[in-house]
Amino acid sequence: MRRMSSSIVQGHFIRPTDHETPKTIGFIQCVGSRSEKRGNRYCSNICCMNTIKDSVLLKDHYPDIDIKVFYMDIRAFGKAFEDLFRRSKEAGVKYIRGLPGEVVEDPKTKNLIISVENTTTGEVEQHELDMLVLSVGVLPRQDGATIQKLLTLSRTADGFFMESHPKLKPVDAPTKGVFFAGCAEFPKDVKDSVTQAGAASARAEIILNADRIKVEAITSMVDKDMCTACEICYRACPYKCIEVDREKKMPAEIIEAACAGCGTCGAECPFGAVTMRHFTDDQIISQIEAILEEDPEEKTVVFACNWCSYQGADFAGISRLQYPPNQRIIRTMCSGRVDEEFVLYAFKLGAPIVLVSGCHFADCHYIDANRWTQKRVEKLWDKLEKMGIRPERLQLEWISAAEGQKFAKVMRELEEMRKKVTKEEIEFTKKALKDLKFKKEKRLAKLTADRAKAEKAAV
Ligand code: FES
Repeated sequence: MRRMSSSIVQGHFIRPTDHETPKTIGFIQCVGSRSEKRGNRYCSNICCMNTIKDSVLLKDHYPDIDIKVFYMDIRAFGKAFEDLFRRSKEAGVKYIRGLPGEVVEDPKTKNLIISVENTTTGEVEQHELDMLVLSVGVLPRQDGATIQKLLTLSRTADGFFMESHPKLKPVDAPTKGVFFAGCAEFPKDVKDSVTQAGAASARAEIILNADRIKVEAITSMVDKDMCTACEICYRACPYKCIEVDREKKMPAEIIEAACAGCGTCGAECPFGAVTMRHFTDDQIISQIEAILEEDPEEKTVVFACNWCSYQGADFAGISRLQYPPNQRIIRTMCSGRVDEEFVLYAFKLGAPIVLVSGCHFADCHYIDANRWTQKRVEKLWDKLEKMGIRPERLQLEWISAAEGQKFAKVMRELEEMRKKVTKEEIEFTKKALKDLKFKKEKRLAKLTADRAKAEKAAV
């Protein structure tokens, strides 16, 4: 197999093996695309038009050449694309709906015989070709992982870089000051790449020409007295925007211009030293207390991330989807902000069921913060089990903004679970957690004790 460009020599299209111009050429579309079994599940976006353009050029140069295109469906949705498709058909290119199942070489003529089920006629056909061109799908670059690590970016399951928001910030990376153009983000043609490059450079210029840079209002903050420089926050930060030095005992410092405000550092800090502006521990704890103040056994506490699950709830609401009214939602910017203490505190106050919900993997708006959520919830399930509390009472669900139906379904299921939690179970849980102390309280107690000891020693 060779690249088609290697068949063009001194302006002539030739078959590389014998340097003859082929009389019959076949193109097979979607090779390695749109099928998980055969390669990638995505559509490469450019192959249909590329083949159509090639067929028109070949017909212009060699009017007698016989061209057959084997396809699933032709995607010609851009400006003037349908016209080019029509031109190709008018020039005599034959479009056969069906992907070949077998290709064999005729030992005598060295031509290729391909077998295909023509799904328009329902017949199995054989075609003899001088040359076969595979329209292979576009792949992400193999060194994407290195760039991802270097710039703290995020990639989709397909391996392309993920934009900050598909509709509102389509050229911005989640890391501020990084922009995408072209196939870095997804396969696209020249026109779309140029358009995106224009948008990306305009976005970059806004930063370069600004006298001042606006930073997020919702960022993390560190209480340096409480910090032990353990570096856990640095490891959890998807943006690596925390400076801390364990050896020098230098407490953590947030680089606010780079902090996106997911709150994962706060949830992971074991000493209560890191919290988040506008989503402080105290604010979230107050919400839990307010929710469970009356009839806690009738409530389900739902932690929902701002960008997906909360929007999913909103979508369920505006779609008038019905679900039981027992759920009480606490919004956090990301599911990564949900500290295990929030969950345990809700149980301590008598919540029968707690749900932590966020974006699907690779959709988290803070790179991979929801992977920390997953790890944290898994640890919590173990912890609950060891305490004799049914781990199923803590649920984890990934719900996107478009999944209003799923949100309503999950809420109905939670209600069924809630009804099965007995009063005895709730009382047992309350007792098991009665000595629960917040990490901040524990750290403060230790600091006070240490100071008292030091003072005593000084005297
Ligand atoms: Fe939704 Fe992170 S933003 S889970």
